Amino acid sequence: MNERETLKINSKGHLEIGGADTVELAAQFGTPLYVFDEQYIRNMMRVYKRTIDSEYGGNGMVLYASKAFSCRAMYKIAQAEGLGVDVVSGGELYTALKAGFPAQNVFMHGNNKLISELTYALDNKVGTIVVDSFREADIIEHLAEERGIVQNVLIRINPGVEAHTHAFIQTARTDSKFGFSVSDGTAENITAYVLGKKHIKLRGYHCHIGSQIFEKQSFVLAANKVMDFAAGIKQKTGFEADMLNLGGGFGVWYNDEDPKLKLTDYADYLKTLIGAIKQKSAEHNLKLPYLLLEPGRSIVGEAGITLYTVGAIKDIPGVRKYVAIDGGMFDNPRYALYQSKYTVLLANRADEKCTERVSVSGKCCESGDLIAVDVPLPKAESGDIMAVLTTGAYNYSMASNYNRNFVPPAVLVKDGKADLIIKPQTYEDLVRNDIIPERLK
Ligand SMILES: Cc1ncc(COP(=O)(O)O)c(C=O)c1O
Repeated sequence: MNERETLKINSKGHLEIGGADTVELAAQFGTPLYVFDEQYIRNMMRVYKRTIDSEYGGNGMVLYASKAFSCRAMYKIAQAEGLGVDVVSGGELYTALKAGFPAQNVFMHGNNKLISELTYALDNKVGTIVVDSFREADIIEHLAEERGIVQNVLIRINPGVEAHTHAFIQTARTDSKFGFSVSDGTAENITAYVLGKKHIKLRGYHCHIGSQIFEKQSFVLAANKVMDFAAGIKQKTGFEADMLNLGGGFGVWYNDEDPKLKLTDYADYLKTLIGAIKQKSAEHNLKLPYLLLEPGRSIVGEAGITLYTVGAIKDIPGVRKYVAIDGGMFDNPRYALYQSKYTVLLANRADEKCTERVSVSGKCCESGDLIAVDVPLPKAESGDIMAVLTTGAYNYSMASNYNRNFVPPAVLVKDGKADLIIKPQTYEDLVRNDIIPERLK
């Protein structure tokens, strides 16, 4: 089996993930259920780490972008694989620290970090903060001074590269709530501003050009622009960046419109980037920066699936057939948010041919509560187990208790054995924080 093939169909015609029969998982843990293949996650982490080791002399670190899927078990895996992590909130930081993750290997992001979050980060000695506003620089300076420390930071810059799945453009005017634009001079201004702070040590720059991108050249273009910018800053101010963080964004397979990549493709993407950085360093006579990368989706996306049970089936002749599941936008809001496309299977009849096109609807009181529209499926019956593939990234982390539904539990599969990593919610959990004021009693 290829290191990136986590799914197969077994002799019973059932879908397997990481050697575990999904029908048995559904029976054991109930549905909806998030299922993750641990080996797949580790293989993805390793391919990035090994490429930095072999192609860049180990002069860098892979940061797992934990917004993709944050829970204590994930930080444990990242730590065991020698990765750092990127966090974007006090909550993600808390989860990482609760898992025992070393704070010095945490990079903290956010376009509007709260004072409470920055305080929490400094109190816990977070390694690096990625500055995204002038105000934030002032707050960090103040907090660091109070504590008598010097805080390492990067500056998030906006190199003017807009990348989408299969295309990218250069933009002179950047319309983004993230980062400081190179083209309008604000990236240079914030650099001077931060360099003027006594309790902040500027280490270098960060950029992140988008997500679900397959076009390697878009990353190269962005890296070149950041390196050109860093060279310009060195000339003007004498400050030489010693860290370069190129963000995440490499794509994964969701459905047949996407390429199915091999581990070597992910290594190649990183090799291409490293080649560009080496070239630019030589061109500008800069020392090779410590390289950081923040993959999220590509580490955990295809490692995860969601299992559901089919309930009501509604055929509207000449219009559409709806197959309803026991989950929906509360465990996967990505169709409702972005019309994201997914591949859907009947896990208990995974060897059967697709005979019809159906739309998979959730159980929320929203017409837009859909998981997939007009997708091929064998004729589904109530009680079938449905698997939605590539739900490992940005599903659990975007889930909610909308309509007071439960956020589903998650299991981690290794060598065919599944362990709960997120336990099921109960009705009691849903009212735990509710308070009835005296006058309503
Ligand atoms: C700053 C930053 N780094 C990394 C990532 C991870 O991106 P991806 O999951 O596409 O690899 C994101 C995603 O939004 C991001 O905003």
